[in-house]
Amino acid sequence: MSGDRKVKIRLDGVWIEVKEGAQLAAALLDLGVVSLRRSATGERRGALCAMGSCHECRLVVDGHRGVRSCLIRVRDQMQVETERELDRAPLAPLEISAPQQDVANLLVIGAGPAGLAAAIAAAELGLDVLVVDESPGPGGRIWAHNDRIPAEARSWIERAERAGVRRLHGYSIIDGEPGRLQASSVASGESIEIECDTIVIATGARERFLPFPGWTLPGVVGAGALQSLIKGGLAVKGKRLVVAGTGPLLLAVAQLARQQQARVLLVEQASNFKRIPLLLRVLKSRARIRQSMALWKSLRDVEKLSCSWPVKAEGDQRVERVHLQTEKGIRIEDVDGLAVGFGLVPETRVAEGLGCRILDDGCVAVDHQQWTGVEGVYCAGEPTGIAGCEAAIDSGLVAGISAAGRTPRAHLQARVRRHRAWGAALEAAHSLRPELFHQGRGEVMLCRCEDVTAATADRIGSIREARLLCRIGMGPCQGRVCMPILEAQGEHRADSVRPPWSTSPGKGEISQ
Ligand SMILES: Cc1cc2nc3c(=O)[nH]c(=O)nc-3n(C[C@H](O)[C@H](O)[C@H](O)COP(=O)(O)OP(=O)(O)OC[C@H]3O[C@@H](n4cnc5c(N)ncnc54)[C@H](O)[C@@H]3O)c2cc1C
Ligand code: FES
Repeated sequence: MSGDRKVKIRLDGVWIEVKEGAQLAAALLDLGVVSLRRSATGERRGALCAMGSCHECRLVVDGHRGVRSCLIRVRDQMQVETERELDRAPLAPLEISAPQQDVANLLVIGAGPAGLAAAIAAAELGLDVLVVDESPGPGGRIWAHNDRIPAEARSWIERAERAGVRRLHGYSIIDGEPGRLQASSVASGESIEIECDTIVIATGARERFLPFPGWTLPGVVGAGALQSLIKGGLAVKGKRLVVAGTGPLLLAVAQLARQQQARVLLVEQASNFKRIPLLLRVLKSRARIRQSMALWKSLRDVEKLSCSWPVKAEGDQRVERVHLQTEKGIRIEDVDGLAVGFGLVPETRVAEGLGCRILDDGCVAVDHQQWTGVEGVYCAGEPTGIAGCEAAIDSGLVAGISAAGRTPRAHLQARVRRHRAWGAALEAAHSLRPELFHQGRGEVMLCRCEDVTAATADRIGSIREARLLCRIGMGPCQGRVCMPILEAQGEHRADSVRPPWSTSPGKGEISQ
């Protein structure tokens, strides 16, 4: 972002000033525009994931329908319409131009730590590398930034530039096969066809959402989503925020919100007792002790609850109150926002679409060289296991070296194995309590795209039936939000992924 420079955008016919370069979803929230669209049954909806998965933030931008406002930055003279305006002003059909072409030795999908590391390793070994990412800038989730790039990210980005890595931002990989993939612009739906010899999939992870009464209210967002919105320019100074769910991401989000002078209540569903084995592991590593001490110091004035979770969100047009189940009973908090996430789900859609094998734990199967078993297709980072940034970098290096036809050093591969063990310990310490799966019952919305309630979904016997009979997973999110819920409830296993792997503007369905 260019400091505090303002630009003008037209929102539903009214010119307003917003910070130049801010994430559009964050800029609108900052203006108090929390509700962005009406759902199929007329409910108000706002951004949920802020990372391109849920499509709840979709708007009409410069005449293009279905644009995810969390994936684009504000530009001067941008024309923005919330979907409810469509009734009054129907849009002309979109003209999508013929696909452009690009060719590379190696295509890396995702510019997070894993993708950047893979791209650098391969480019330094002489390959022509193209990285494609649907976000507006490099860094993935942990290094997402607005005006100030984190120092660690800067060094990787600069190294990628020195190695001649080419980057294409604002494009989702939505279809294809090994050797030839299709990327589609998140702003306009225009496509590019990319030919390549090898592929490294580094598509990261997304948040797991679990439904509870009121979770569809505008102002209820993911935990990582709150982080993304703040980094995108949302001011939270003085706001009362509950950050709830599970896992270390909550701590990072609470820390950022606190730094921005929000009033934070941190609510973890796991018990402290369950996290003792993790603590013992932390004590074995000086680096982890230092990191943990710094984190806890920054959160010392934040109230923390364990064994607690949200059971209900209430409000008129947006969330105003949260009911929390605590060890002492129900506690009701007045809030300006609720950020809630129940861990991470590996983002494997592209891998599945390319024919990679998915393990029972939902991760892409890879060998010690991060090879997926599909010719010319490697995978690195969170799709192969949720284990944090260092794991993403090391597995990315292994994948990039392997994609260049070399053998990665044994010590690098051993580090990846150690990271995986840490990831498993994190997972065990934050396993989800069964009560959480029973909150999405009755009239609670389970599929947000198609407005299917849990009561309706109860009648289905398989994921196939869910799709065919109830349209669960058939809306713009393509199952990214609802399928992990069905899986977490333990009754079903998601079926195969079909192209397009992501919904593009112009082709997106609008539920009016
Ligand atoms: C919302 C969120 C917030 C997080 N915040 C933190 C944090 O603060 N601290 C921390 O230690 N860890 C955090 N994590 C965990 C974090 O994911 C890892 O630590 C690390 O960033 C993983 O790196 P990665 O390269 O595997 O994936 P990511 O960093 O997630 O990068 C994946 C990239 O792939 C892109 N992508 C995905 N699908 C496509 C597609 N089809 N086409 C084009 N591009 C695509 C995405 O836009 C993204 O930039 C967060 C995770 C999430 C989901
Ligand atoms: S909030 Fe933008 S896609 Fe989820």
